[in-house]
Amino acid sequence: MRSHANGKNVDGLIDYFDSHVKIILKRALVSSCGFENHWFLITMACFWFLGPNGGAVQLNNKMQELFVTGGAGFIGSAFVRTLLDETDWHITNFDALTYAGNLDNLKDIDSSRHHFVHGNITDAGAVLAALPEGTEAIVNFAAESHVDRSITSAAEFLQTNILGTQVLLDAARARGVKRFIQVSTDEVMGSLPEDENAYFTEQSAFAPNSPYAASKAAAEHLVRAAHHTFGLDTVITRCGNNYGPRQFPEKFLPLAISNALNEDPIPVYGDGRNVRDWIYVDDHCRAIMLAMEKGKSGAVYNVGARNERRNIDVVGSLLDALGKPRSLINFVKDRPGHDRRYAMDPRLIESELGWRPRETWETGLKKTIEWYQQNTRWIERTRSGAYQDYYRAQYGKEVSAT
Ligand code: NAD
Ligand code: TYD
Repeated sequence: MRSHANGKNVDGLIDYFDSHVKIILKRALVSSCGFENHWFLITMACFWFLGPNGGAVQLNNKMQELFVTGGAGFIGSAFVRTLLDETDWHITNFDALTYAGNLDNLKDIDSSRHHFVHGNITDAGAVLAALPEGTEAIVNFAAESHVDRSITSAAEFLQTNILGTQVLLDAARARGVKRFIQVSTDEVMGSLPEDENAYFTEQSAFAPNSPYAASKAAAEHLVRAAHHTFGLDTVITRCGNNYGPRQFPEKFLPLAISNALNEDPIPVYGDGRNVRDWIYVDDHCRAIMLAMEKGKSGAVYNVGARNERRNIDVVGSLLDALGKPRSLINFVKDRPGHDRRYAMDPRLIESELGWRPRETWETGLKKTIEWYQQNTRWIERTRSGAYQDYYRAQYGKEVSAT
């Protein structure tokens, strides 16, 4: 995010020279190689297009102040880690530590550039008190995020996801924060037909089907309105289903892995043929970083790794990887209003921002499974106490805590 007052002009000049130097170099390359060396040219072109590291994020490494909400949760904590690893930015991490927030998720990070504040985004006073002067951007991860819980009770979803987002937008305007990034979801666009070659694009109509999705859609509308009416610089990213380390085991993949490790039955809703578009969490985080740095003001970017899978196949892959029997699969009553298929068209973020996922399904799943195998204490802790009550209410049975 190059946002210093006259930095924009300097950056514009750099971009101008950069693109002209590239053109001159490309022409020299073409004239010196001749057509017989077309493989060399193709390789160079791919290298040029993807960058030296498969579309790696090249962030401006100037010291920046970021305000991240929900950074003790699954994706937020991965974002904090990635950002601290790959930049020298400073982060204020504002999180209410709900059942899904976990300070263990932030263990071993660089505390000199990370400041945790326990607070609720619906509390305007607390947000303003925690928001540092000169904050470059707010990145809003904080949310109630589980569809099944929103079906049981929507109240918290409306409070945090809608009212909380408005509080943050107001705070951003009041404090002159330069950019607001809303982390949204493909679920705002509803469900795609199973057998059609249809994908969600940035132009797809909103059709949220669960209270969770409806609350995230409402939040997007508020972000759009803040941009349109007040000129706030906003970017929205919409992503599919994330997987990776530290995901709370109410979500399908970590629930299936932790149950499989304990040889508990794995509940699969309905016929198991619902399709989700899976992405490794760090790939999502890098997409957010790029959108924050280089996204157009007011833009929406769909983020997806072109990795559609049926739930039943997801469980199959992980049972095979763990060497556990398929007999652990337990088909249970379907989720009310269960969306059939999500599938993202990521061409805009790929072409405009040069984003590419680094992980394949195979490498991402391997890393994820290994993390859960090596962090049984984390699973034990997250599955104790209130989780047992949740599990009993949701699935009508106990789950072993270890
Ligand atoms: P999560 O449930 O793991 O974490 C949510 C975090 O927000 C927790 O740390 C929690 O303590 C905090 N939080 C909740 N209410 C708060 C409040 N009122 N004030 C302050 N903090 C609060 O969620 P996640 O899976 O990491 O998702 C993060 C964001 O990404 C959400 O906005 C979600 O809608 C979005 N998203 C998630 C996915 C996914 O697959 N998990 C996909 C697309 C988008
Ligand atoms: P989930 O992880 O809850 O994410 P979302 O509903 O946001 O996509 O669920 C992923 C898929 O797995 C979804 O189709 C519902 C299904 N699912 C099950 O089959 N069993 C379960 O116990 C859960 C939690 C989900």
